Amino acid sequence: MKVHARAPGKVIWFGEHFVVKGKPAIASAIDLYADVTIEPIDSDRVIIESRDKGVIYDYSRRGKPPRLLKPFKHVIDYIVGEGYTGRPRGIYARISSSIPVGAGLGSSAATLVAFTAAFLKYHGVPMDSNTVSKIAYEGEKIVHGKPSGIDNTVSTHGGFILYKQGVLQKIDYVWRDDYVLLVVDTGISRNTGHAVKRVLDRYNRVPNVMTKIYDAAEEIVYTALKYLRKGDFEQLGELMNIAHGLLASIGVSIKRIESIIHTALKQGASGAKLTGAGLGGCVLVLVRNDLLDRVSHSISRVSKKIRIFPVKPIGKGYSVRVYE
Ligand code: PMV
Repeated sequence: MKVHARAPGKVIWFGEHFVVKGKPAIASAIDLYADVTIEPIDSDRVIIESRDKGVIYDYSRRGKPPRLLKPFKHVIDYIVGEGYTGRPRGIYARISSSIPVGAGLGSSAATLVAFTAAFLKYHGVPMDSNTVSKIAYEGEKIVHGKPSGIDNTVSTHGGFILYKQGVLQKIDYVWRDDYVLLVVDTGISRNTGHAVKRVLDRYNRVPNVMTKIYDAAEEIVYTALKYLRKGDFEQLGELMNIAHGLLASIGVSIKRIESIIHTALKQGASGAKLTGAGLGGCVLVLVRNDLLDRVSHSISRVSKKIRIFPVKPIGKGYSVRVYE
């Protein structure tokens, strides 16, 4: 028997950073995926391999894993420790992903969701989405310390999610096929913790001004819900532009992000904003199909480091298949 599981990455549409102080945020799953296959091998060993990074760990030897595979070891320990399965043996798990790493697109959560689903399925454990998400979150803690849980939730359940103070709610949306969402990787890696600290420091220095910005961000989220439900993408684009202005005002934009956004809007994109922590990472660009080539071409000329991924929000989260 061979098991293959797949789980999507995510983008934050609205509310990043403001969410840290209890404001709402909107995120969605996108059609960039992490894949995990688990196959039997002819020995007692438990091998985990990251295909993209070329790292291998033998879980059965109980040694120290390479940093990249530590969350997966932790997930197996957790699954066994909680009694979902006995000690595993005789498997080879291969992890691969088309989600850019360290760019705020939830690549670690997606690999962990796919790994958890494949592992439970292979061992015949009945599973539901909440269990998969909960176990993947245990691995996320190893990667991110104290993550909000948005990434594993979106990757598990798919669709659009409204997140506020630890409560996640699926939201209805209409996706317009005459528009494309571009995820533009600036090629500049960033550190979420550093960006969060920078914003909180500014908040503490000028709280009276910052609270007004946070209130505006909240208003944007509730207005965006309305346009998402109606499929009014021109209005949604305008909100993205305003949201980016707020993110720049709290100090997380940088020159390359601004150049990408300026170029995209000049060429006719409906909206553009940074997504996630900022100070690098990715930019979201919402563009009408007929302007796609023009906009992409101009963005790619901003820097050689830039990578552009046309993506679609997807309603479905993880999936698992068994091959006998
Ligand atoms: O870039 P990411 O996916 O790590 O997003 C960070 C989002 C923040 O709001 C900046 C931090 C958080 O924990 O919500």
